[in-house]
Amino acid sequence: MRDTVEPYVTEDGRTIGGVVMELKNITLRFGGVVAIKDISFDIREGEIRAIIGPNGAGKSSMLNVISGFYTPTEGEVWFEGKPRPKMRPYQVAQQGIARTFQNIALFAGMSTLDNIMTGRITRMKSGLFSQALWMGKAEREETEHRAAVEKIIDFLEIQHIRKTPVGRLPYGLQKRVELGRALAAEPRLLLLDEPMAGMNVEEKEDMSRFILDVNDEFGTTIVLIEHDMGVVMDLSDRVVVMDYGKKIGDGPPAEVRNNKEVIDAYLGVSHD
Ligand SMILES: Nc1ncnc2c1ncn2[C@@H]1O[C@H](COP(=O)(O)OP(=O)(O)O)[C@@H](O)[C@H]1O
Ligand SMILES: [Mg+2]
Repeated sequence: MRDTVEPYVTEDGRTIGGVVMELKNITLRFGGVVAIKDISFDIREGEIRAIIGPNGAGKSSMLNVISGFYTPTEGEVWFEGKPRPKMRPYQVAQQGIARTFQNIALFAGMSTLDNIMTGRITRMKSGLFSQALWMGKAEREETEHRAAVEKIIDFLEIQHIRKTPVGRLPYGLQKRVELGRALAAEPRLLLLDEPMAGMNVEEKEDMSRFILDVNDEFGTTIVLIEHDMGVVMDLSDRVVVMDYGKKIGDGPPAEVRNNKEVIDAYLGVSHD
């Protein structure tokens, strides 16, 4: 049980609201592999919720359960106060949840602009049929989507690469474009799977700043998987610690960092 569901204001002035999602006794098996073992935690409106743990701990699997891409073998996901039913892929995309992937999943031959535009698809109302019938309406919609994408490009400071095919961009910028595509869906809940993996210090600092700005300016709730403890300490409001599919810690970063089981799990496994 959580101690409180009352909204509160953080030290840096952001408001954390009520519970948006509750994961209740989640177990996920792949054949004989138990990726997640009986894990429960909640995600509150407006918070940055980190999930940390060694490689193979089950973090990405958990993100897939949160997004609705995986249906847990046991347990329930409550979203906006109701148990969430099993979903089809198109329904997953429509629930206001957007994500980035541990391995970049962009269209390498397409420009930054067009890649970010693909993030608008779930918001496009005019299908091909209505486009043929109502040219005017579809054109208006197209203009709106372009404007939304340009806003994101400004926000992420990537004007200079808007026409560049993303396959030609350095890794750090590709990660930023991927964030842009997720933001284009105007998600309520944003899921980031190791957004800073493989980045140098400067790239990490930039990405950290953008994550904080997204949360602060748009009030987006963020679930963040991250290996770098320093980054987690700086960014997150609360941290779930996983190890071998189990939850071994849950709380504010300063508290979790001093938990003996967490320290052992971290020191016992090498990270790359
Ligand atoms: N689609 C899958 N099929 C089979 N096993 C999987 C699958 N996805 C993950 N696993 C296994 O589940 C465990 C947790 O993996 P993962 O969630 O990717 O961990 P993490 O993201 O913490 O590194 C690992 O043992 C992994 O091999
Ligand atoms: Mg992973």
